[in-house]
Amino acid sequence: MQRNRSLRHFCEILSHGTIHSRFLAANFSREKSSRREMSSKWPERLGKPLEVTEKLLMGPGPANCPPRVLEAAAKPLLGHLHPDFCEIMDDVKAGIKHLFQTENELTIALCASGHAAMEATLVNTLEAGEKVGIAKNGIWGERAADIASRAGINVAILEGTPGKSFSKEEIEGFLEKEKPKAFFITHGESSTGVFQNIKGIGEICKKNSCLFMVDSVAACGGVELKMDEWGIDVLYTGSQKVLSAPPGTAPISFSPRARQAIRNRETPVQSYYLDVEVLGRYWNVDAQPRFYHHTGAVTNIFALREALSFISSENLEETWKRHKICQKKLHEGLKELGLELFVENQDDRLPCVTTIKVPDGVEWNVVTALMMENDTIEMAGGLGPTAGKCWRIGLMGFNCTEKNVNKVLRSLQKALQTIGYLSK
Ligand SMILES: Cc1ncc(COP(=O)(O)O)c(C=O)c1O
Repeated sequence: MQRNRSLRHFCEILSHGTIHSRFLAANFSREKSSRREMSSKWPERLGKPLEVTEKLLMGPGPANCPPRVLEAAAKPLLGHLHPDFCEIMDDVKAGIKHLFQTENELTIALCASGHAAMEATLVNTLEAGEKVGIAKNGIWGERAADIASRAGINVAILEGTPGKSFSKEEIEGFLEKEKPKAFFITHGESSTGVFQNIKGIGEICKKNSCLFMVDSVAACGGVELKMDEWGIDVLYTGSQKVLSAPPGTAPISFSPRARQAIRNRETPVQSYYLDVEVLGRYWNVDAQPRFYHHTGAVTNIFALREALSFISSENLEETWKRHKICQKKLHEGLKELGLELFVENQDDRLPCVTTIKVPDGVEWNVVTALMMENDTIEMAGGLGPTAGKCWRIGLMGFNCTEKNVNKVLRSLQKALQTIGYLSK
């Protein structure tokens, strides 16, 4: 009996062994064949150092960076909590405060693009089941509504017309009817080239016990903006537009009222990465000891610091004025070429992004391709409501010069002549 059991056990080991060696053999041949299948090699182009041809980026962003901003991005790395890096973060915070004209303590830069700032705005101040009012006259209101609904926030839309801004009366009527906890509006609708005058909306929001949230990704720095004076509770922008830094950081600020709303939440912010109160600790907000929230995008923060330093060589008022002057010059030049602007009302035209109607019979992308091919100038097509119907020219920060306006006009004229729309 005992002997039989041992024998069976021995056989099991043997058969296991057999199975095991069969398994090993099968695995080996699979590995061999997968080694053979690793026919995929490192792509040949990766074997060479990166080469990038410089282009003049006259679309709605990113804009070109001043050389010293790119040089800052090439500086040696620092640890994301090294004291010298913390000092740079402090300078960035102070620079954003001035840019936004705010004293808000919770003023930081997200290590992410404008979309993340939009999401941070919505998911910190609002909880699932609460209501946000969103002004929609282009793609950015639509995007904010998408982000909010994904977070379970109820969305009430103030439907506008692409190419037109909202009136204070429309906004007031909407807030009185919908009674949202927060109201979101886009300062510079880069998809349509609409400028939204936001002065005065803060008071309407306050009267309606509503937080005021502004997307100024495509406007901040190029037009007048005063966060505290205008009663804005959450404001954000993107690094790659007027600031002329590489894409990837997004300055954002929360008023004490917005922070109170965050403190009153019943549920934690569902996104750890975008929880601004936790993030604030990394940025030493309220003099809290620095804390490892994530590894800061050290190089991108260097570049943002340098971009803020670059922009600080001019008074903000002068920067706003320069954008207006270049806008006027561009619009006059476009008129001389016989082209029509998409935004009819002069006051609704955003200095940083101009939308131009594509004339009947002209293929928009043939023109943009010619400009790129002949002059390495980027002019963009439309987006959202203007897709296929408009071109978009950006005048942003470092790129916003009369010389560049002339370059883009000359290049556009040549392209229109090449396709026979304009005579030579
Ligand atoms: C008004 C506006 N909001 C948000 C964004 C999104 O920014 P990002 O592309 O940096 O995520 C953009 C980008 O063009 C924009 O123009």
